Amino acid sequence: MTAKLKITGGNPLCGSVAISGAKNAALPALFACLLTEEPCELGNLPQLRDIKSALAVLSAMGAEHSDANGKTVVNAARLRTTVAPYQLVKTMRASVLALGPLLARAGEATVSLPGGCVIGARPVDMHIAGFEKMGAEIQIQNGNIVARAKRLRGANIKLPQPTVTGSENLMMAAALAEGITVLENAAREPEITDLAVFLNAMGADISGAGESTITIRGVDRLHSAKHFVMPDRIEAGTYLCAAAACGGDVFLENADLSHLSALAEKLRECGAEVLNCNDSGDDGDDGDDGDGDGDGNSENKKRGARITMHNRPRAVDAVTAPYPGYPTDLQAQWMAVNCVAEGCATITETVFENRFMHAPELARMGADIELRGNAARVRGVASLSGAPVMATDIRASAALVVAALAARGTSEIDRIYHLERGYATMEKKLRALGANAERK
Ligand code: EPU
Repeated sequence: MTAKLKITGGNPLCGSVAISGAKNAALPALFACLLTEEPCELGNLPQLRDIKSALAVLSAMGAEHSDANGKTVVNAARLRTTVAPYQLVKTMRASVLALGPLLARAGEATVSLPGGCVIGARPVDMHIAGFEKMGAEIQIQNGNIVARAKRLRGANIKLPQPTVTGSENLMMAAALAEGITVLENAAREPEITDLAVFLNAMGADISGAGESTITIRGVDRLHSAKHFVMPDRIEAGTYLCAAAACGGDVFLENADLSHLSALAEKLRECGAEVLNCNDSGDDGDDGDDGDGDGDGNSENKKRGARITMHNRPRAVDAVTAPYPGYPTDLQAQWMAVNCVAEGCATITETVFENRFMHAPELARMGADIELRGNAARVRGVASLSGAPVMATDIRASAALVVAALAARGTSEIDRIYHLERGYATMEKKLRALGANAERK
C-alpha cells in the first residue's frame, strides 16, 4: 500500500511557513559538481526524493558526498564511471543533466535515454543536437545516449524552442569547451541564472543567463565553490494558490515574488492581496504590517511573500508559457483555484501535451471541467466535496492538495510519492497553516 495524504478541508489558511530550496535549481547544481575534481559545497538543498535520486546517480559515478550543518559537500575528485544506468535514470529524468558535465570533463558519457513521462513525450533531441554542434559524436545504443568528444568546441547554438534542462546541460558543457558558445533562444527561468551564478563561482565565464542569449567563454578547468540554492518558486506558488482557494493570511518565508510575477498578477486579478516583503522593510512599507493592528511588527519584516485573501476567488484565465510567462508547473494548481472560483475560466497548456491528468481527479471532487485539446474550461462551483483521489505527477498531486484544502469534508490523496519528489514535509507545512493534514 502506498502512502496517502488525508486532508479535511474547508478552513482558511493562516500562519507562516518556510519555503525550501528549489528542486529544479538544486538538481543542475548537483550535476555541475561533476565538472571539477575539487569539492563543492551546496546550501539550501531541499529534502526531497529527487535530490536523493540525483545523489545516487553521482555516487554511482564515484562522486562522494557528505552533509554537515545543513550543507552538502560533493567531491567528484575521481570518477569511477561515466555511465548513468537505466535503473537510476528511470527514477528521475533530470539525470540527463549528467551528460553535459561528463562529456566536457571526461570526454565521454553514457546516459540512459529518458523515456516519455505522464505529462508528455519529453524528448531530449535539442540537448543532443547542441552537443553535436559542439563536436560530440552521439549514438543511441540499447536505449542509451552514448556521447564522445576529445574536447568540446564552442559553437553558435540556436534552440528551436526554449528548453530548461537543455539550456542547463549545454551551458555546463560549454563552460569547459574550447572557445565561445552562444546559446540563442535559451530558456530564461530563474533556475538557469542560479546555475550560472554557481558555475561562475567555480571559475566559468558566463554572461546573459536569464536572457534569451547566453554567452559562455570556455575555460580549461573549474574549481571548488560554494553555492546557496535559490528558494523554490513553484513550492511558493503552490502555497499561494492554496491560500487563494481557501482564503486566509499566509506568510511564505524566503519566497521571492519577483520570480512569480505571472502568478502574482493572476492572484491580484482573482481578488487576493499579494506582497513581496524583504528584510529591511525598504519596500516602501510605512511600518504597518497590514494586519489591522498597526503594530508594524509582523513577518513582513522577514524576507518572503505574503498573501491575504478574504473572499471567494474570481475566475481568471491562464495560458502557460516559458518564463517569464505563466509557469506550466503551476497550471494544475491554478486550475484547482478556478474550480472553486466565481465564474468561468479557460486554462491553456502550451508547454507539455498531456498535462491535464489532474482534471478527471478534480472532477471526482465535484469540479466542473471540460477538456478540449490543450484547453480546459473550468466553471467554478460553490464548493468541492472531499473524495479519494489519485496523484499522477508532482504538480497534479499539488493541485489535488489545493482542491482538498478548499473542499468540504475529507479527501485521501493516494500515491503521494509523486508529491514527495517535489514538496518537502508538505503535511507539516500545511499543519503550520492550520490545515487538517496527515500522512497515512
Ligand atoms: N523539448 C523538446 N526537445 C528537447 C527538450 C525539450 O522537444 O530536447 C520540449 C519538451 O517536450 C517540452 C518543451 O520542450 O514540450 C519544454 O521542455 P523543457 O526542456 O523546458 O522541460 P525540462 O527541462 O525537461 C524542466 C523542469 C520541469 C518543468 C519544465 C518547464 C527540471 C528538472 N524540470 O523540465 O519541471 O515543467 O522545465 O518549465 O528543471 C516539475 O518540477 O514538476 C517539472 C516537470
